[in-house]
Amino acid sequence: MHLLALHGPNLNLLGSREPALYGPATLVDIDATLAERAQALGVGLDCFQSNHEGALVDRIQQAGAATGGGWYDGILINAGAYTHTSIAIRDALLAVRTPFVEVHLSNVHAREPFRHHSTLADKAVGVICGFGPMSYTLALDGLVAHLRSQAPR
Ligand code: DQA
Repeated sequence: MHLLALHGPNLNLLGSREPALYGPATLVDIDATLAERAQALGVGLDCFQSNHEGALVDRIQQAGAATGGGWYDGILINAGAYTHTSIAIRDALLAVRTPFVEVHLSNVHAREPFRHHSTLADKAVGVICGFGPMSYTLALDGLVAHLRSQAPR
């Protein structure tokens, strides 16, 4: 099993970005923790961050079997602010038909009203938010368990 973790805009600044809200962990720390957890679960994991909507769409297209990629069984995605605005990222995820989990460090529902809407959530296997960096490992555990439960026996 091979998974892709996608990080959207401004997440490259974690560690120095609004630390009261997002905590001290950097994206390198988060990716390292995810890689450890993936190894413990026996799954492969690649990570990709971009500040650009189109670059995220390109990466999703490359990831998906339905568009000729087929490298990945599932996607973890923290699309950052694009979560609340991007129909293009939603459409890309639907086009590739790769199961995905939406992740946020912060509890978006306890923040400004414009963060309460997600263009992705209704198509996700699940949504995890509010646990800081642990949101990612919880999402990884959930996605792997979901995919294993779907696999033919
Ligand atoms: C975020 C929440 C988004 O609303 C925000 O735009 C981000 C980070 C989170 O992980 O809490 O960039 O996705």
